[in-house]
Amino acid sequence: MNILLIGDVVGKVGRRTIACLLPEIRRDHDLDIVIANGENAAGGKGLTPSTADEMFEAGVEIITSGNHIWRYNEIYPYLDSEAPVLRPLNYPEGAPGRGFLCHNGVAVINLMGRTFMPGALDCPFRGADDALTNIGDCDIVIVDMHAEATSEKAAMAWYLDGRVSAVIGSHTHIPTADARVLPKGTAFVTDVGMVGSRDSILGVEKQPVIDAFLNQLPTRFTTDEHGPVVFNSVLIQVDEASGRATGIQRIDREVT
Ligand SMILES: [Fe+2]
Ligand SMILES: [Fe+2]
Repeated sequence: MNILLIGDVVGKVGRRTIACLLPEIRRDHDLDIVIANGENAAGGKGLTPSTADEMFEAGVEIITSGNHIWRYNEIYPYLDSEAPVLRPLNYPEGAPGRGFLCHNGVAVINLMGRTFMPGALDCPFRGADDALTNIGDCDIVIVDMHAEATSEKAAMAWYLDGRVSAVIGSHTHIPTADARVLPKGTAFVTDVGMVGSRDSILGVEKQPVIDAFLNQLPTRFTTDEHGPVVFNSVLIQVDEASGRATGIQRIDREVT
């Protein structure tokens, strides 16, 4: 089974780029399922029902998210619906939506790290344990580990090695070069990256970010919708019988 996981889709340029590239990538790599992180899809921060629908029309089948999912409260009822959109599992009880689902034989768990991240979240490691006991008979399990600290993402991958098919890091918007399959069959990459403006800072316009570092004042950031766009993803090959990953490779593109 070939599973594509796409990094944080940033704004309209991100949504447009996945719609443009996915048909060809699906054909070239015989994709069975496409998962994308949508926490930045609406205006660079957050997700709305219409931007989620646009991602589904582009060929995404499951949307994961992270700390920015709460930006627009119109998404709250959508998270509570049957739509295959996840929020991080380890928010305190009572948060809208759910943190794992099973879709066409593939389970997806969305976790959020706690190191250098906002909020007082529950333990993602224990959260993963709980999800795995409740996941039913899905042998293929993909984890989106939305976190800032590289160490926390690596710790999660080694903690879950042999128990899930893949642990894929997201949130930093920067792709890392360490994609590999761990000894017990869990594919891992520290960060998958983003789909967003190349000549930006993490998908947002550069100057306000530079100014914020210089003057230390609260600053409003704007999604960069100009110029070339990078598309970062990983292709995970999974043996359907065992649920073990047999390969992981980066699929990165740039479009003008
Ligand atoms: Fe993000
Ligand atoms: Fe994030």
